[in-house]
Amino acid sequence: MAIARRTRTTAGMCESAEMEPSAVRTPAVGKTNPLVPREDWQRMFLRPAPIVCDLGAGNGRFAAAYAELHREWNVLAVERKLQRVRKIQRAVDLRQLTNLRVLWMGWDELLLFWSRPDSCREIHVLFPDPWPKRRHQTRRTLSGRVLAAIFRVLEPGGLFRLLTDDAGYYAAVEQAANDLPGFGRAEDSGGFPGSHFEAIFRSKGDPLYGAIWQKARANGEGEQEAG
Ligand SMILES: C[S@@+](CC[C@H](N)C(=O)[O-])C[C@H]1O[C@@H](n2cnc3c(N)ncnc32)[C@H](O)[C@@H]1O
Repeated sequence: MAIARRTRTTAGMCESAEMEPSAVRTPAVGKTNPLVPREDWQRMFLRPAPIVCDLGAGNGRFAAAYAELHREWNVLAVERKLQRVRKIQRAVDLRQLTNLRVLWMGWDELLLFWSRPDSCREIHVLFPDPWPKRRHQTRRTLSGRVLAAIFRVLEPGGLFRLLTDDAGYYAAVEQAANDLPGFGRAEDSGGFPGSHFEAIFRSKGDPLYGAIWQKARANGEGEQEAG
């Protein structure tokens, strides 16, 4: 099975390789992670370009379409289910999306332990697992701590987009975002390709909840819509 990975012996480049799943599992936090060059995510790609992340990418429908639409960007899809990672890798190969990389790991772990501040232009979290029951809500990936990590990882002026079918989840994220100084609401200019789950919910006519937040630039621009 071929999955894009980066090894210590091929520092500075990404390659596809035949390997067992155990070979690409994330090693324990704190050790070197051969998948992610924390100091410079650009090294996972063939050339430096603004980085856009699709976290919890599922079958990669959004990530692949976005990478196709924006060949000038580097798109990083992160997914923890191996079958879905393989699907995304198939799209990379079939559609020759040299600007799309997929990582098989938890995106909360990636942000909390393997990221650098001010390194992403956009972060998209589309239909994170909702865990709607009250007693399960602590399992939600997008906690206040993880949202703060998203804020840290975004470049000044960078955008975070959330879309969910769960009103309660949305409200919790909105509250946490309001508590982060320098994270303001931004206009949705549209033009985002739909994700797989988005297509399902829209076809059923289900209400969706979402927003875009922008990290303030050094000059304070982007803060005016906060709240
Ligand atoms: C409901 S699906 C949405 C998939 C896709 N974003 C879409 O809109 O079609 C949620 C996805 O997030 C993945 N996921 C959940 N928690 C994750 C985590 N901590 N790290 C990486 N992937 C995660 C699941 O495996 C699943 O593929």
